[in-house]
Amino acid sequence: MTKRIAILGSTGSIGTNALRVIEALGADYKVAALTAHNNVELLAEQVKKFKPKVAAVTNPKKLDAFKKLLGETETEIHSGNEGLEAAASDRDVDIVIAAVVGAAGLEAILAAAKAGKILAIANKEPLVIAGALLTKIAKETGAKILPVDSEHSAVFQAMQAGDAKEVNRIILTASGGPFRGATKEQIKNATIEQTLAHPTWNMGKKITVDSATMMNKALEIIEAKWLFDMPVEKIEVLVHPESIIHSMVEFVDGSVIAQMSGPDMCLPIQYALTFPHRVKGITKHLRLEEIGSLTFEKPDMEVFKALKMGYEVARTGGTAAAVFNAANEAAVKEFLEGKIKFVNIVEIIEYCLNKHKVKTDATLNDLLSADDWARNEVKEWLNRVR
Ligand SMILES: NC(=O)c1ccc[n+]([C@@H]2O[C@H](COP(=O)([O-])OP(=O)(O)OC[C@H]3O[C@@H](n4cnc5c(N)ncnc54)[C@H](OP(=O)(O)O)[C@@H]3O)[C@@H](O)[C@H]2O)c1
Repeated sequence: MTKRIAILGSTGSIGTNALRVIEALGADYKVAALTAHNNVELLAEQVKKFKPKVAAVTNPKKLDAFKKLLGETETEIHSGNEGLEAAASDRDVDIVIAAVVGAAGLEAILAAAKAGKILAIANKEPLVIAGALLTKIAKETGAKILPVDSEHSAVFQAMQAGDAKEVNRIILTASGGPFRGATKEQIKNATIEQTLAHPTWNMGKKITVDSATMMNKALEIIEAKWLFDMPVEKIEVLVHPESIIHSMVEFVDGSVIAQMSGPDMCLPIQYALTFPHRVKGITKHLRLEEIGSLTFEKPDMEVFKALKMGYEVARTGGTAAAVFNAANEAAVKEFLEGKIKFVNIVEIIEYCLNKHKVKTDATLNDLLSADDWARNEVKEWLNRVR
């Protein structure tokens, strides 16, 4: 049966790779909806090529330019956040690939879950913020959540070797980013260029900065907790600079099941689309003799304090993760605009977390207010230091 796919954030790194995967999968996979925020030039090209039922431009200021670029079309055009939700919940969509960056994807992911879709989630921030709510809705509607993040896809694949109750540890691997092995002193004034020079992965800017601070791994600990319903104590991080083992699961009998492949997001995207089946794809096959050796180190939680904070936030729950994520998003934006130093990113997150009064049993409104509150606190922090 044909699978009809919506890609939220089709112009980004995950979005464009998803389109390559879908094209290679052939006629059984159809693009049903596409969305972008600013890059209407690329979105218009994609819509002309894939002819989806729905297209949405989330930045309303870009809508006119998009319509002009597209000309005559049979595609329904939407705009704003409502447009994103319309694409996520359209009745002619079976699978939603969530590939927007940041909290902006939250409401659309919830809309897809309420509509009972298969949700292939790359956009980890909404899971981090609202994992409890999202997994509850999915249970009620029968929506299936499949991970696209390479680490969580690896864990998901490895978990199939046993029962969830038989898992002893989830071991999330981390490349260590561009500053692996550096001291606090060496990285405190790291430039934007140095920060964006990831040694193994080619990704969007926000996640690349998150990899350098190791905030990405901190978010992934929380993501794993919700995706696999695992206590934080069972989730460990191991630095593996070659990025070949994407994560591992240790079972109670001592067996460790690892998923390996080259650093290419097309494979986890494809697995989420074809699950429970595997088909030939566009990812280059691994030749371990070309890699030679695989190495592992313990992460340095003193230099990469975000990781330590990630564990604390995962244990705390409630609104803490919304603040953790929003403070990071706002700080990364300031860093990429050259307004703060690299070291300030984690300082700002810590400042917000220390000031926040956590609310447990948080509703969606509580989470959105906490997100707003943290973004304002970042502004205040900036005003104080300027
Ligand atoms: N890249 C990877 O390899 C990778 C791996 C694992 C997980 N992830 C996760 O996947 C998500 C996407 O990452 P990415 O690297 O693909 O990001 P990206 O390259 O920056 O792409 C982001 C996409 O979201 C759209 N977007 C930006 N701001 C938006 C807003 N306010 N509202 C709606 N849409 C918006 C962008 O549209 P425009 O292009 O028009 O701005 C673009 O289509 C992130 O959550 C990331 O953590 C990525």
